[in-house]
Amino acid sequence: MTTLPATTLAAVAQQLTGGGRGILAADESIKTMSARLEQEGIPASATTRRDYRELLLTADGLAEWISGIILCDETFGQDLADGRAFPVAARELGILPGIKVDTGTTGLPGQGGALVTEGLDGLGARLASYAERGAAFAKWRAVFDVRSITPYAAHANGHALARYAALCQQHGIVPIVEPEVLCTGDHDLDASAQATRLALRSVFAALDAAGVDLSGIVLKPNFVTPGLDAAPASVDDVVGATFMVLRETVPTAVPGIAFLSGGQPTEQVCRYLADLTLLAGRPWAVTFSFGRALVSAALHTWAGQAEVGAAQQVLLDNCRSAAEATR
Ligand code: G3H
Repeated sequence: MTTLPATTLAAVAQQLTGGGRGILAADESIKTMSARLEQEGIPASATTRRDYRELLLTADGLAEWISGIILCDETFGQDLADGRAFPVAARELGILPGIKVDTGTTGLPGQGGALVTEGLDGLGARLASYAERGAAFAKWRAVFDVRSITPYAAHANGHALARYAALCQQHGIVPIVEPEVLCTGDHDLDASAQATRLALRSVFAALDAAGVDLSGIVLKPNFVTPGLDAAPASVDDVVGATFMVLRETVPTAVPGIAFLSGGQPTEQVCRYLADLTLLAGRPWAVTFSFGRALVSAALHTWAGQAEVGAAQQVLLDNCRSAAEATR
């Protein structure tokens, strides 16, 4: 088993979230990625999923804006056209490779539709193998719906996230701890704040109980926003509510927070990030760990063609916008 000193975990967490760069989430499951390819008229296969991820990783100058890339197991084990394994190529390009290790969600009986994320069985052995193949960090995503979150669901997901995070650190891998409160629904800003507060409180209580070194984690939360079907809130209100909930729940020992986009428009999430970056008295680095906000337009532009330059430029433009929002 690889065991790196905590200072190394802390250094990696700082490298991922500081320095005006952010994380590219390219870890869609085979099912989700296949559906997104097919939506663009691209036949889904291991080869097209690989080609698409190669397009993303090899965009010229990506490392100027991107500190880490999250991969799924399939891509982590694939090679670029030049024969280099994805995690090896990522490091050579100046980008830390990460791996999504949860195996998805399942319903929690008796909890009115609330979900719990699975994947703990055999996780230690999988992490050892990922570490050997170059993984610097990992990701585990818990999912909450404002309408169905319960204290027990928050506790169960917090417990799983804490066991995952402790195992990651044991294997020298920085855990990205992601409790996502979905933005789907017609709830208002306050309901999102309450759900996010409950989720984060449970997560940090569990991390503490599990003995996780907070200086060696990255938190990946949602912005606190009203549901997509509700009346929108102003940028000031979203940023204010997000900062308030984070300040109440996230210990200052956490070095960095990397927000998910939740599929919201690129310009909007970059604006939230830019305004949060400017807030005085912020104890943690803030950056992005966006998926769709960075890649959706690039996938559309690519459309499965041999020519990848235009799609890479779209990706680079979005990554630059997000990174500049943190600077
Ligand atoms: O787990 C969620 C993803 O890593 C971030 O994706 O920015 O499309 O919500 P998103």
